Amino acid sequence: MKPQPNIDAIRRILVVGSGAMGTQIGALFALAGYDVTTSDLDASALDRSREEVRRRLGRLAEKGRRSSEEVESALARMSYTTDSFAAACEADFILEAAVERIDIKRKLFADLDAAAPDHAILATNSSTIPSSVLMDATTRPDRVCNMHFFNPALVMACVEVVRNPETSDATVDTTVALAEKLGKQPVRINREIPGFVANRLLRALRAEALELEAAGIASFEDIDVAARTALGHPMGPFELMDLVGIDVAYLVRAAEHEQTGNPADLPHPSLKKMYEQGHYGRKTGRGWYDYEAQP
Ligand code: CAA
Repeated sequence: MKPQPNIDAIRRILVVGSGAMGTQIGALFALAGYDVTTSDLDASALDRSREEVRRRLGRLAEKGRRSSEEVESALARMSYTTDSFAAACEADFILEAAVERIDIKRKLFADLDAAAPDHAILATNSSTIPSSVLMDATTRPDRVCNMHFFNPALVMACVEVVRNPETSDATVDTTVALAEKLGKQPVRINREIPGFVANRLLRALRAEALELEAAGIASFEDIDVAARTALGHPMGPFELMDLVGIDVAYLVRAAEHEQTGNPADLPHPSLKKMYEQGHYGRKTGRGWYDYEAQP
């Protein structure tokens, strides 16, 4: 009989990928008491990730959101490596947050599957690649799912847990329980659909905002003001594109168009232009807003 995942058997977690999402997700697991290894092929990215975690957790302690003992012990539970597969041998749960490319993720899933203990769940943080296109690269399709966090992961409460047709109930229940251990609000998604749920809601708002701006009905700044002050959103759709990344917004849309072939799913021309100009938002200093000009 196949070993079934169980929340009480999870002690060590491997996060593959030390970009913005992997960095904050690793910190979340460590704050919840898990031993965490973050892996990346790029050693300098790991150095940046370690520094970012120190900075973010230091701020939580300064603001009294967490005690300095909690932060120190979380930091002590975190390690970093360029050898994902050695770390996978000891992991009870693996969260992949690497680059959004199916070929790379399939190879990773095959290698992680070969290294990880039988009971381990292999989850992907991907918002665009459903686990059904990764599961057959492994020998454990029933222990594969999406565990999708939102940006910034330390702050946003929602985690979508998305099952593929083979995912077992034990895998879903364990991943949901793990999200709860992090203090998150899990949302179970019973069937894969491009964009899952939250990004489909966001997409509808963003599409309308881009149309209004392109038609000159209102400036992007004023559309953001309307979203904040009329709808109570913490950020307007243009500020949010800059936070998440124009490149991410563009590539998510392009991937959806590739899946559906529907011209209505093509990235908006304004997004395409900014993507081609390399204006990716906060990370490049310029997106809809100009961050370099700010004090
Ligand atoms: N990383 C970690 N923490 C951050 C942060 C970041 N990048 N930016 C802000 N924070 C923290 C701050 O430290 C602060 O913490 P405290 O409350 O403990 O002081 C808290 O968030 C609030 O920050 P600020 O007071 O500076 O600013 P704010 O009130 O405007 O909040 C925000 C910032 C949390 C980002 C808020 O504007 C927000 O919720 N925006 C919407 C974000 C959103 O919709 N995310 C979903 C994106 S879609 C996605 O992620 C899907 C995908 O698949 C790509």
